[in-house]
Amino acid sequence: MTKDTDINTDRPADPSRRLALGGALGATAAAMIGARAANAQAAPTGELTGKTAFITGGARGIGLASAEAMARAGANIVLFDIATPNLPHVSYTLPSEADLAAAQARIEALGAECMTYRGDVRSLEDQQAAMRQAVDRFGSVDIVLANAGVGYAGAIAGATAGEISTLYEVNVGGYMKTTQAAVPHLRAAGGGRIIYISSGLARTGNDIFGVYGSTKWAVNGFAKSAAIAYGRDNIMCNVVAPGLVRTPFADNAAVLGQMMPGADNPTFDAVSAMIAQGTPIGVGHLEPEEVAESVMFFTSHATRSMTGEVLDVSYGSAATSIA
Ligand SMILES: NC(=O)c1ccc[n+]([C@@H]2O[C@H](COP(=O)([O-])OP(=O)(O)OC[C@H]3O[C@@H](n4cnc5c(N)ncnc54)[C@H](O)[C@@H]3O)[C@@H](O)[C@H]2O)c1
Repeated sequence: MTKDTDINTDRPADPSRRLALGGALGATAAAMIGARAANAQAAPTGELTGKTAFITGGARGIGLASAEAMARAGANIVLFDIATPNLPHVSYTLPSEADLAAAQARIEALGAECMTYRGDVRSLEDQQAAMRQAVDRFGSVDIVLANAGVGYAGAIAGATAGEISTLYEVNVGGYMKTTQAAVPHLRAAGGGRIIYISSGLARTGNDIFGVYGSTKWAVNGFAKSAAIAYGRDNIMCNVVAPGLVRTPFADNAAVLGQMMPGADNPTFDAVSAMIAQGTPIGVGHLEPEEVAESVMFFTSHATRSMTGEVLDVSYGSAATSIA
């Protein structure tokens, strides 16, 4: 794919739109060139050059790793994140505003343009405002990664009403609102990609992730419906479903304690080693960069005609749980 073609077709992009984009970017680009001259970092070019990627939950973890991969491929990046360490009904620490700023610096260090927006995916208005700002600055939104999520580990009986509501409002309602906010802009761009991060837990029942896992089953179902709803708009909607990933979402005392009950001080690596014993390839976790590679697959020309798919990235776990 080159910047002269729409994101997921071989059709030439609308030249009037690109001319308008060029004009809108002129002043910004000049300022950027000046800024870049100072640190001698060339803008990356690649398959996503000229595209803009909007990433929810981009301050760290899978979202940030995916943003870095898209930046290396030439995309402009928008990091949307709540960036609020203590979220009610969430038992582990979320990133801070400083973490979001550090994430932006990491993207800019790659030579890419990056804007941040501190907002809550539970708010449609927040996401609409962020998308509008993204279009004002970059001219379009072409790729959307619905990724912001929260976790809960524990028996079904132990989940409080607040925990259940928060899980569903963020993990399910948030993804639906991301879709609602994004579709008008993706349509305006002539099509695009929405990639939803689900989970390997959306393939099977689980005794300690029953409540959380059910939100991810909902994501798989919703993504398939979005694929049907927006296929004629040339918007491809696909899911990446990872197994355990080394991020603070999983690497925290509340989750590790549930996954290794009885262990004095369970570590992420010990949990991974335990899982690895039961997987076909002897691997028990992924690094966020590996998940990002699968996200990149769904941004690529190779997947221009794929929609409604769920890609398991689960070190072989899916081989033992689904057809
Ligand atoms: N880490 C894993 O083992 C794993 C496995 C499978 C799927 N997932 C899924 O991957 C996605 C990313 O998880 P991660 O592991 O990178 O976790 P993480 O906690 O490292 O990152 C999640 C990001 O989402 C943001 N966020 C949370 N609630 C938000 C809200 N209401 N509005 C805006 N931003 C919000 C957080 O601030 C954080 O930056 C989640 O949807 C998660 O369910 C994670």
